[in-house]
Amino acid sequence: MQLHQDVCEVLYTEEQLRARVTELGEAITRDYRGEEVLMVCTLRGASIFYCDLIRHIDLDIKLDFIATSSYGADTKSSGEVRLTKDLSSPIAGKNVIIVEDIIDSGLTLKYLKKLFEARNPKSIKICSLLDKPEGRQTDLVGDYIGFTIPNAFVVGYGLDYAERYRNLPDVCVLDPRVYTK
Ligand code: IMP
Ligand code: MG
Repeated sequence: MQLHQDVCEVLYTEEQLRARVTELGEAITRDYRGEEVLMVCTLRGASIFYCDLIRHIDLDIKLDFIATSSYGADTKSSGEVRLTKDLSSPIAGKNVIIVEDIIDSGLTLKYLKKLFEARNPKSIKICSLLDKPEGRQTDLVGDYIGFTIPNAFVVGYGLDYAERYRNLPDVCVLDPRVYTK
C-alpha cells in the first residue's frame, strides 16, 4: 500500500502485527490455562488490537470495555487521567487483563490498575501492543508487550492523532509537520 501523506515511516506492517498478536494470544493462553479471564479493552486506541488478540486466545474469556482520556488533540499526555466509561460488571475474584494500545508516561495504566485493584480482582495484568519506555513518568511495567518502540508519535492500527489515522492498517510514525504547525 502507498504510504499515507502524513506519515514518514511504517514501523510495523500488517503482517508483522498479525504475527506478534498471534504470539501474544498464545502466551496468554499458556499462562492462564484452566482459568477464566476478563479481557478489558481500553477504548478507543486498543480496539483493533483487542479484536485481533482475543481471537488468538483459546480460553474461556469474557469481554468488557472502558474509556479514559488524558490527551485531547495533542501528542503529550496532559498528565491528568479521567475515566469516561467504566466497566459494565464487577471484577471481584476475576483474572483481569487490561488491553492497551501503547504505554507512554504510564499514567493511564497506573491510574486504571489502582482503580481496579481496589475492586479486589483475583489478578490484574497489562497487555499493550506498544511500549515507549523513554516516555515513562511512573514505575508502571507491562506484562505482555507486543513491541518496544523509540520515542516517536505513532498512528494506525487503532492509534490516533486528534482522532485521525486509526484506520491505517500498519503502525506508522506520524510526520512531525502534522503537529508542529
Ligand atoms: P500514557 O498515559 O502516557 O501512558 O499514555 C497512554 C495513552 O496515550 C495511550 O493509550 C494512547 O492513547 C496515547 N498515546 C501515547 N503515545 C501515543 C502515540 O505515539 N500515538 C498515539 N497515541 C499515543
Ligand atoms: Mg489509548
